[in-house]
Amino acid sequence: MAEWQRTHTCGELRVEHVGQTVTLNGWVHITRNYPDQVFVDVRDRYGLTQVVFTADEVDTFQTANGLGRECVISVTGVVRERLPNAARPDIATGKIEIKATAVRVLNEPVLENLKFPVTEFPNEKLANEELRLEYRYLDLRRRSLQNILILRHKVCQVIRTFLDTRGFLEVETPLLGKSTPEGARDYLVPSRIHHGEFFALPQSPQLYKQLLMVSGFDRYFQIARCLRDEDLRADRQPEFTQLDVEMSFVEMDDVLGVMEQLTADIFKTCLGVEISTPIPRMKYADAMAKYGSDKPDLRYGLEIVDVTAALAGSEFADFKAAAEGGGKVIAITAKGAAATLTRKMLDELAKKQEQDFKTKLFYAKFEAAGFSTGVAKFLTPAQDHLKGVLGLEPNDVVFLAAGVGDRVFEAMGSLRVQLAQEVLKLIDPKKSEYKFAWVVDFPMFGWDDEEKRWAAMHHPFTSPRDEDLQYLESDPGKVRAKAYDLVLNGYEVGGGSIRIHRQDVQSRVFKMLGMEADDAKARFGFLLDALQSGAPPHGGIALGLDRWVMLLAGTTNIRDVIAFPKNQRARDLMTGAPAPVEARQIKDLGIKLN
Ligand code: AMO
Repeated sequence: MAEWQRTHTCGELRVEHVGQTVTLNGWVHITRNYPDQVFVDVRDRYGLTQVVFTADEVDTFQTANGLGRECVISVTGVVRERLPNAARPDIATGKIEIKATAVRVLNEPVLENLKFPVTEFPNEKLANEELRLEYRYLDLRRRSLQNILILRHKVCQVIRTFLDTRGFLEVETPLLGKSTPEGARDYLVPSRIHHGEFFALPQSPQLYKQLLMVSGFDRYFQIARCLRDEDLRADRQPEFTQLDVEMSFVEMDDVLGVMEQLTADIFKTCLGVEISTPIPRMKYADAMAKYGSDKPDLRYGLEIVDVTAALAGSEFADFKAAAEGGGKVIAITAKGAAATLTRKMLDELAKKQEQDFKTKLFYAKFEAAGFSTGVAKFLTPAQDHLKGVLGLEPNDVVFLAAGVGDRVFEAMGSLRVQLAQEVLKLIDPKKSEYKFAWVVDFPMFGWDDEEKRWAAMHHPFTSPRDEDLQYLESDPGKVRAKAYDLVLNGYEVGGGSIRIHRQDVQSRVFKMLGMEADDAKARFGFLLDALQSGAPPHGGIALGLDRWVMLLAGTTNIRDVIAFPKNQRARDLMTGAPAPVEARQIKDLGIKLN
């Protein structure tokens, strides 16, 4: 062992080490210089240790005085107990310090290269995220990001142990494959050997895991990278990770049961939090009707109420048109919010709804004397009825929307989230609350108004419910799928289904999705053949690992849980990818740039 190499990490030393001579390696975190003493906090991923340099060690003291932030050093010294009033109860090594006898500078950073501080102080404003992404290796020195990656590692270990104990096999599947429709655009990789042909990077390992069931692997899992070229959001990355699971000879309850136990295990081991099982189930139709979303946040009320009957006789054109046209008038009540919500705020909310959902949002306040402001005049005739169904009390604000179809519910669902998060601030960030739900009974197909055709709500390999199979061609909108989503605090954190395991059903579903027999054979012939070679009944699920870690870590930014993420424009700011390549490389691929 070289003399500069560490004997301990910076998070390891305690009172029982007092008197020992030790060597630490790490980065200079903070220095405090006094005429006859220099204090240096040395940092590594395990923690922080305070080192004291005193003027009596002349050479060492001189070197210590020149140490700047983020210097990489090796320090040797004797562990001693801190004076009681100098102890730091907030750090694990806070009862000791090291009286240094030697220090070696292993590497000194160029100051201009330290683009932002990595030391975090309470209430400190972080440097701009784009800058931090550009120098991600520096940003990853921050304790809070390191803790998240450590948590992520732990979650993966819990998953592996849990599934291994239950007989699941970890199997890797190809990255270079054929396009699997998961609803996004594919990332394509041109083939050099077969000009004009492309691999698609997997949007998920969906078909491979089904084929593993056909092969008889029975219980599979993979912590799999998935790639989707889609519009990014705070909880979406183009390259993300799923815990992908598949099981044979199972029904929905079996898959949900295993996932519930895994959920409880992850929360217990990683956070010490008990999740009670079984996780409640909610029908898709109820989720939409009550929360205007298939991933409802159940941490607060603000439920949607159908007031069509109360306002059926209204003179107000929008209410009247909805009631008479087979649509709905729906409402959300913000309890006690009349004083908080100014006219200006209400108008802004309405404007945003109109922009985002092309749906008009109406409002009125309810006071002791009755409705006021907004559409009060049109609500007053139905005051008693509305008071009854909405449970109105003075100082409440009622929001209303009217229309036909799902969009009006989605608009109200979005308003609900906005009211809770931004306006009424109903979520206490200090209170770690975890509200899980399964959303079940999804429709098999949704009507794509732009393309004028039916599209799979999950993916085309999801099995219809047996009793609904009869409506597949005659009334596709009526067919429910054996699909399920796992929802946590307003995020979709998982989704899966029981699969089609019969070739004839799969062919009928492809046909419904507009794929003729030849087309289906060209794209998915291998699957159709496999289903006719002894495919067991099977089903599975995929959990969005990044979203899980986000929620466990208490962040709302998916980039915080990925070591080297892409920015909102799908670019890696550190390496600059995607980037132009040499003309020769393009030529080799038989491609011409436009
Ligand atoms: P699905 O498309 O629902 O299902 O994906 C499963 C879960 O993955 C997460 N997720 C994402 N996370 C981050 N960034 C993204 N761009 C992203 N897209 C999805 C979500 C989602 O619930 N093959 C099916 C699974 C199955 O049927 O077994 C599938 O991929 O948390």
